[in-house]
Amino acid sequence: MRGTQLGSIIHISGRETIDELHAKLDSYIQSVRQSNPMRIDKKYTEKIGNLPLITLDDPILKKKYRSLRTLDISYNPALSIKDIMARQMVEDALQEGRIVKGKTIIAEATSGNTGAGIALMGAVYGNNVLLVVPNKVSEEKIKRLRKFGAHVIVAPTKIAPTDPHSYYSIRDYMGTKNDIWVPQQYDNPSNTKAHYLYTGPQIWKESNGNVTVVIIPTGTSGTISGIGRYLKEKNRNIKIIGVDTIGSILYLLKQGYALEDVQHLSHSYDIQGFGEDIYPKNLDLNVIDEYIRVSDMSGLTMTRILPALGVFQGQSSGASYVALLEAIHKGFVTKKDHVVLMFPDSAIPYRKDVFNDEWMKEKKFSINY
Ligand SMILES: Cc1ncc(COP(=O)(O)O)c(C=O)c1O
Repeated sequence: MRGTQLGSIIHISGRETIDELHAKLDSYIQSVRQSNPMRIDKKYTEKIGNLPLITLDDPILKKKYRSLRTLDISYNPALSIKDIMARQMVEDALQEGRIVKGKTIIAEATSGNTGAGIALMGAVYGNNVLLVVPNKVSEEKIKRLRKFGAHVIVAPTKIAPTDPHSYYSIRDYMGTKNDIWVPQQYDNPSNTKAHYLYTGPQIWKESNGNVTVVIIPTGTSGTISGIGRYLKEKNRNIKIIGVDTIGSILYLLKQGYALEDVQHLSHSYDIQGFGEDIYPKNLDLNVIDEYIRVSDMSGLTMTRILPALGVFQGQSSGASYVALLEAIHKGFVTKKDHVVLMFPDSAIPYRKDVFNDEWMKEKKFSINY
């Protein structure tokens, strides 16, 4: 069995012809087939999702909003909220016979956290994992995937999702192979189910049923849909607020626009982990009351401010906090509310980007925080 050896990596430049691209992918897939998967003991995944709400220590807001709390899920073994859905997707697939323990390659397009969760689960069940990530993802994040034994394909970002070199297209190409299973995190119902079964009940229980507003950064939208569905069943007046990026089109879908009418409005952005240019099947707009859009500048700046509040979290957590301030400003959150803020991942994978002054300067973001 392979021990602590890093998973391999290849880069797609975007300049390959389709034949060259497919030949490169085929030869890489063949090398992954021949490698021994990493092994991790199942016991490390048993506590996934079972983490407490932590009261946010913001001296100014706390005075005004006494019950303001945050759900801190950064201590899942692969360091993010996505461990919860990764475990569900893999275990549901095993149970339903869609994958074979120790045999099927699990492949997915992921900006990092789902990949880490899937890599972890692959190592638990002895399956090789092949991940496609966009090239804007930090090297540190990619290294984390490889440390869990995943093999990584880095794909270009600034191209249309339909381009054969895009990370969606590469994922779909891998899905055409018989021995590769693609969980399809955007459309796989186990994604939403995991949050309906675990994260939603956890927020309800930990807030003693007092929660009135939940603010959640959204990508595949499994987190918000699962939590929203569960909490609205408990109390339909609980407000579910999605956090979207500028450049994403999720908020436009909520406004009733059809995907084909707005997809061309999507554009790339620097903040990582949330926002979409597609309509994921996991997006249940019926349980989302509002979207708040957060810019690269405000989200990244806030991520650098959060440690002063005792919160050393990732970029979408910074955005979550900006959205809270905006929600207060817009009157979606009042003094009487019991707010739960979702902080989806830890700061650890972002030390070389948002917490690095050089990276911030290169991107022309302020470093005065
Ligand atoms: C850091 C981070 N924040 C937010 C999200 C969005 O969560 P979801 O895909 O459940 O909408 C993700 C998803 O990958 C993420 O990695």
